[in-house]
Amino acid sequence: MKSKILVTGGLGFIGSHTVVALQQQGFEVVIIDNLSNSSIDVLAGITKITQITPEFENIDLRNKEAVNEFFEKYDDVNGVIHFAASKAVGESVENPLLYYENNLSTLIYILQHLSKKDSANFIFSSSCTVYGQADSLPINENAPIKKAMSPYGNTKQIGEEIIKDTCKVHPNLSAISLRYFNPIGAHPSTEIGELPIGTPQNLVPFITQTAIGKREQLSVFGNDYPTSDGTCIRDYIHVMDLAKAHVVALQKLMNGNSESNYDVFNLGTGKGNSVLEVIESFQRSTGKKLAYKIVDRREGDITAAYADTHKANSVLNWRAEHSLDEALESAWKWEKKVFKKED
Ligand SMILES: NC(=O)c1ccc[n+]([C@@H]2O[C@H](COP(=O)([O-])OP(=O)(O)OC[C@H]3O[C@@H](n4cnc5c(N)ncnc54)[C@H](O)[C@@H]3O)[C@@H](O)[C@H]2O)c1
Repeated sequence: MKSKILVTGGLGFIGSHTVVALQQQGFEVVIIDNLSNSSIDVLAGITKITQITPEFENIDLRNKEAVNEFFEKYDDVNGVIHFAASKAVGESVENPLLYYENNLSTLIYILQHLSKKDSANFIFSSSCTVYGQADSLPINENAPIKKAMSPYGNTKQIGEEIIKDTCKVHPNLSAISLRYFNPIGAHPSTEIGELPIGTPQNLVPFITQTAIGKREQLSVFGNDYPTSDGTCIRDYIHVMDLAKAHVVALQKLMNGNSESNYDVFNLGTGKGNSVLEVIESFQRSTGKKLAYKIVDRREGDITAAYADTHKANSVLNWRAEHSLDEALESAWKWEKKVFKKED
């Protein structure tokens, strides 16, 4: 019998790519999404790629009763990948209660249910933001957790603590927190990709929107950081690699051969690229010239972050395979498709 996996936020950017990867590995998927940051069209995109329409429930996970009803209806779910959350750092500063409610109450309601089951597997979307500006690079999983710089970042730190504490007293529950570095790119089919609402906060959607003409110019925030070219350094990981990592992490939990019932993994490429390097790579891989200007530093940006991926490489037997050029090329193909649709 196929295992049934609940993917919350499965119509979002990383969730939709993971649904595809799960289906392609033979898992049955049921998605919960309230469409607060995604479109129902994503379901058709997923179906086009895999020829399988996942089950879909339009539920707001803040509704505890609806969550309980869901688990009553789908009592055969034996794994949960929890993507659903709000993720805009700036918005979280302006509206902290929205973030604490949406990112933590949803997690608690799901764990309350899973902790009652004989056995349950749970994967949590965490972030490299928990490290802040790390003392040394690359960053491994033992690096200290720094004071969060935003309510959003804090929800990831608290979320991890909630899971760890729950696993301690519920040995029936096995969980992994995956700390993503900077997910970019789109499915090569261009059926699914990133759909930022409003002004993108991340570099790559800003680049593609500028290149397509939706925005006049890209602002590079600061070129006086202590890096080789003065711009900030991040670890950009193709969403296809990220999606695959969720499948292997889930399989690891299901195999039941882990030393502990709670673990944490970095997901990145292990390589840092500066903003100017990303711009260069974009221009090289797409042949598009990009208009950009250097402006003042942006508050809250750290200088550099990239992952030590040895733990995921050895324990999960996973590594990122796609290059930065490939990721940017796919993001560009996706942007062109979105633009054509909007036209
Ligand atoms: N994209 C990144 O750069 C990044 C980096 C690190 C961590 N993360 C984390 O990864 C996860 C997925 O990120 P993403 O980029 O795919 O985001 P996304 O916004 O594209 O996807 C999240 C999905 O969850 C849904 N959702 C939100 N609140 C919900 C609720 N209460 N009930 C039901 N559905 C709800 C949204 O409609 C959306 O489809 C998030 O937890 C995010 O914090 C993302």
